[in-house]
Amino acid sequence: NSSPIEKLKDGLLSIPSQEVVAELGGGEHESTVSITVVGASGDLAKKKIFPALFALYYEGCLPQHFTIYGYARSKMTDGELRHMVSKTLTCRIDKRANCSEKMEEFLKRCFYHTGQYDSQEHFVALDKKLKEHEGGRLSNRLFYLSIPPNIFVDAVKCASSSASSLSGWTRVIVEKPFGRDSKTSAALTNSLKHYLEEDQIFRIDHYLGKELVENLSVLRFSNLIFEPLWSRQYIQNVQFIFSEDFGTEGRGGYFDHYGIIRDIMQNHLLQILALFAMETPVSLDAEDIRNEKVKVLRSMRPIQLEDVVIGQYKGTAKGGVTYPGYTDDTTVPKDSLTPTFAAAALFIDNSRWDGVPFLMKAGKALHTRSAEIRVQFRHVPGNLYNRNSGGTNLDQTTNELVIRVQPDEGIYLKINNKVPGLGMRLDQSHLNLLYSTRYSKEIPDAYERLLLDAIEGERRLFIRSDELDAAWALFTPLLKEVEEKKMIPELYPYGSRGPVGAHYLAAKHNVQWG
Ligand code: NDP
Ligand code: BG6
Repeated sequence: NSSPIEKLKDGLLSIPSQEVVAELGGGEHESTVSITVVGASGDLAKKKIFPALFALYYEGCLPQHFTIYGYARSKMTDGELRHMVSKTLTCRIDKRANCSEKMEEFLKRCFYHTGQYDSQEHFVALDKKLKEHEGGRLSNRLFYLSIPPNIFVDAVKCASSSASSLSGWTRVIVEKPFGRDSKTSAALTNSLKHYLEEDQIFRIDHYLGKELVENLSVLRFSNLIFEPLWSRQYIQNVQFIFSEDFGTEGRGGYFDHYGIIRDIMQNHLLQILALFAMETPVSLDAEDIRNEKVKVLRSMRPIQLEDVVIGQYKGTAKGGVTYPGYTDDTTVPKDSLTPTFAAAALFIDNSRWDGVPFLMKAGKALHTRSAEIRVQFRHVPGNLYNRNSGGTNLDQTTNELVIRVQPDEGIYLKINNKVPGLGMRLDQSHLNLLYSTRYSKEIPDAYERLLLDAIEGERRLFIRSDELDAAWALFTPLLKEVEEKKMIPELYPYGSRGPVGAHYLAAKHNVQWG
């Protein structure tokens, strides 16, 4: 039972954990943070990570002493990396005052190191460079693994043994996919734990960093009018809908190995479902919230194949434009059965949610880009306004609460009201909170929040290993069945609303998609 610091000395821990940092007396005073983006030449780094880091810098959220290193195999100089980063600054900051000035300052803090992901020697060289920038201060190091999953473990091994901080913390952000099923995910977790403590691993699900997903708990737990209604007694069904109006363009190779169930449902939508359905946590601490989320995941009923519909988009021509089908992508096998669309009915077998269908729908190449949570309430008992009264049919519909995660972030509640006038006719209207009209400040990108949280050691929005296990335990049997039975996806035209099968599935559960 040696203490963490003894374990560190004994070489049992390759990276000091939070506990060790505390024992070493590491504080924020005169400390420095070095952020290494592993896979800096890639799509995610350019599109999301560097812009988010710049936004944090612009907002004054990064510590006084920080350095950013890009690491990848591609040969690049510091100047070339800076050029690349400046070209991809497509985030919300680029039109703001002093942007170019701040950008110059930011770029001066960005450097590049060429190296292989499995080379101790190259990480030793990185360590040397990091130390030069850290200038003897207490060093904290964050590694962002923005690389394909097959090289996660190599990179973690090298970073932990050759480039971890010995005076401060070392944390590693891991991008999805975290495996393809329970077995591969457990293997990845075990391999990572060989080199890192659980509290050093930050498994990112960027949907948890989205403003409206963050607001879900606030909406529910700080408004008396919602929490008492949040159960099978008043809620008829809940829908989690993700749709994109573009296909897998450019990512077909990755996507074909995973499919939409693994890409969106098992992580993004399931995480939102867990937050939606959890019991009140003891506190807002990361562990208290994650404890409640994992209970929801463990209470879920195995998903039945007859409660799932899968689809794949096919090419179509519209208005003189030809849209390619999924298998037209040269990186996708012509006979691929990989679903680009899926809808499923899930159930939580606990006393709060017994019998309530939680419907999920996710698809690429659909008619619109959006992500929403829809809560459809039951009919008002007694049906007073549905009766024919004096020959007038006062048709009344049920309430619906819609949380629009993107685009046009907003929350609206559909209510019944009387149409003004001498007659008695009902209408449905929206009580509407549209963020763009209510708040003038732009909404930060999810990656900004998550990067800042990782720097600050806030784990609330990252996935704990037992949550991940529970998520895979739910989806692995279904995926196995779909793949073993070679289920043929229903084809739907690019830009359509998806397969009609999704409507039959909803109807089977007495639900209409919102
Ligand atoms: P890329 O395919 O662009 O890979 C990132 C970098 O890794 C490349 O620039 C390349 O750098 C290196 N690399 C690529 N393939 C290999 C290989 N086979 N062996 C060794 N190195 C390789 O990935 P993305 O940037 O798109 O994504 C990074 C991670 O984030 C992945 O895990 C992905 O699944 C995940 N992700 C990506 C999203 C996105 O929108 N792009 C969204 C959500 C998650 P070099 O050759 O210079 O070494
Ligand atoms: C990623 C998926 O996790 O999320 C992509 O791998 C998808 O396929 C993306 O396009 C959607 O993210 P956002 O934030 O653009 O809705």
